[in-house]
Amino acid sequence: MRSAILGTGSYVPEKVLTNFDLEKMVDTSDEWIRTRTGIVERRMADKDTPSSELALRAAKKALQMSNLTAQDMDAILVATVTPDHMFPSTACLLQHKLGARKVMSYDFSAGCTGFIYGLIQADAMIRAGVAKYVLVVAVEELTKITNWTDRSTCVLFGDGAGAAVVGPAKDDEHGILSTYAAADGSLGDLLILPAGGSAMPASEETVKKNLHTLHMAGNEVFKHAVRQMEEAAIKGLELAGIDMKDLDWLVPHQANIRIIDFLARRLNLPMDRVVVTIDKYGNTSASSIPIALDEAVRDGRIKSDQTVLMVAFGAGFTWGSVLMRWQ
Ligand code: COA
Repeated sequence: MRSAILGTGSYVPEKVLTNFDLEKMVDTSDEWIRTRTGIVERRMADKDTPSSELALRAAKKALQMSNLTAQDMDAILVATVTPDHMFPSTACLLQHKLGARKVMSYDFSAGCTGFIYGLIQADAMIRAGVAKYVLVVAVEELTKITNWTDRSTCVLFGDGAGAAVVGPAKDDEHGILSTYAAADGSLGDLLILPAGGSAMPASEETVKKNLHTLHMAGNEVFKHAVRQMEEAAIKGLELAGIDMKDLDWLVPHQANIRIIDFLARRLNLPMDRVVVTIDKYGNTSASSIPIALDEAVRDGRIKSDQTVLMVAFGAGFTWGSVLMRWQ
């Protein structure tokens, strides 16, 4: 039996931070940000709104679309690198906020590949008979771990949440056709939040040195992202036995428009078959794919029977893909 996405939902905070706002904060320009990344603006959560609140709003929308309720869920999985707390998990907070049954609920950290990893877990649980319905949520508030004095990272990220209700597919032709995931921890230092964990507990010094913010060797990460996203896309197609020319939609992780352009070219896909949201939301890490997917489903671009390939790359490094026939 295959699994399928039965409903999608997303939520982004109302507050908009434009490139022009950033020009006033660091030595950058709207022109540089647009041409080097494709980002025009991004969203920012309030100081008092934690990740679980964004997750809640996205999850409610996904449940509504699926015609199921929180009570129907057999597991709640949350992909995030910006949980409300180190523990308890944001998934447990979400279980409570949703009024779900006391089902297995946990967070996991797979950087920007989080939603892909989550779908793979949900698909495996459903096919193994461990769960019938799984709520997969990806939520990030990267603006809360941003170094606002570092122009090479602070212009890139935004906040948001995306969710999917995963359950049994209506037949063997629809739903998740292939999954592929990989990781390489030897390169972890290239994209890292150094302090606050057991390797470097919080101290006055770590705060002074800004070590509780995201550090990225952008140029290096870029090269790996391009290579591994191509690998994940090709693997996904091969494993599903789908030819490139039969691919209807690409929903890539939104880190940089140049990475997305490159991937589309390698897959021979015109850009009007690629879902792009980076201009509006920047890089929302794990949330970027489910936000883009939700937009394209709701505005009618993604239709029944079409093939949809989701591809991601992120901190870890992690990368992977999920290929579906939309039901
Ligand atoms: N405004 C103006 N100039 C900036 C800038 C900014 N916001 N950020 C960096 N620069 C400058 C650099 O200082 C550098 O100047 P120099 O040549 O005088 O030293 C120059 O621009 C080029 O920097 P570089 O880092 O080589 O730029 P880039 O073209 O690689 O773009 C990123 C930087 C971060 C946009 C790009 O590397 C990227 O998107 N990386 C991958 C991110 C990613 O995939 N993440 C995936 C997991 S989330």
